[in-house]
Amino acid sequence: MKILVTGGTGYIGSHTVVELQNKGYDVIIADNLSNSHIDVVDSIEKITGKRPEFIKLDFSETENTYKFFESNKDIAAIIHFAAYKAVGESVEKPLKYYRNNLFSLINILNCMKEFNIRNIVFSSSCTVYGQPDKLPVSENSPIKEAFSPYGNTKQIAEEIIRDTTISTKNINSIALRYFNPIGAHETALIGELPLGVPNNLMPFITQTAIGKREFLRVFGNDYNTPDGTCIRDYIHVVDLAQAHCIAVDRMLNNKGKSNFEIFNLGTGKGYSVLEVIKSFEKVSGVKLKYKIVERRPGDVEKVWANADYANNELGWKAKKSLDEMTLSAWNWEKAYNKKNNL
Ligand code: UD1
Repeated sequence: MKILVTGGTGYIGSHTVVELQNKGYDVIIADNLSNSHIDVVDSIEKITGKRPEFIKLDFSETENTYKFFESNKDIAAIIHFAAYKAVGESVEKPLKYYRNNLFSLINILNCMKEFNIRNIVFSSSCTVYGQPDKLPVSENSPIKEAFSPYGNTKQIAEEIIRDTTISTKNINSIALRYFNPIGAHETALIGELPLGVPNNLMPFITQTAIGKREFLRVFGNDYNTPDGTCIRDYIHVVDLAQAHCIAVDRMLNNKGKSNFEIFNLGTGKGYSVLEVIKSFEKVSGVKLKYKIVERRPGDVEKVWANADYANNELGWKAKKSLDEMTLSAWNWEKAYNKKNNL
């Protein structure tokens, strides 16, 4: 059974390809390599003993997308990760984000109709909830006005998928709303590899600890939280990847309750920035250099998931602890630097 993974050389995509192959699926990765490296395909092969098919493709290019699907009519399901995701950049260059994230989705959905591909899993985000009024946040919590064009692309994309599945009765879709994925594969062969200066907390921590960055800036310690720093629901990327396999199984076996479903993927537990730093220091034995600085504009104070629906309905539960997450991220950073003589 062939699964198309768009953005499959990226961070969450690559971990998902590993889990899919381990489950016996045949995977074709399509990625434009704008924020990932082709070497990831070799690493996936090392981990799983099987090389996924790879094609360099930008799904926002309509003609090339059609050509691709025309020669890959046997795709049983699509997992659509390929998208830009830097919140700050999206504020500066909104059209880049709307164009890429929405054109690619529309092209894919058009091709699904054209070539009768029935199943799509969409990579969504807890960003759609903004700062929720009630915590933990469940799938029924209200969608708040997006904080950034990036966040808006996730909201609009969910609406585009919902409307398409209503009008086209034979497309099944699942939107997975991720909380904060961190960590890396236990082999340390794949992990998060942001190009340039990382925006996200975990790669910034590991890059500071290894000496690539001078110090971590902790954005604000005057929030209404126990230690004053923001709280997030950090989830191990492998737990997250496994949920994608289950979502694919669910659609292929027609187990969905409707043809547009939404699941929160989180652990149900929130940790502050300082708690993440403490965990990292404990597992790595490295004292992290950090400074408390001004709040980062657009940050929500606290958010964590009610993951009951995914737990009960998908039979999935995030298993890995915060220490396992921070340790695997650290092992990956060290292994990457060693391999590349950095
Ligand atoms: C953001 C988006 C999320 C998106 C993700 C991917 C929002 C509200 N959230 O997550 O939708 O999927 O990026 O890029 O738009 N922090 C520091 N110092 C740093 C970096 C981060 O203190 O150098 C803090 C932040 O203030 C925050 C926490 O660490 O409290 C996590 O930040 P980050 O990893 O960037 O994720 P989010 O902002 O939660």
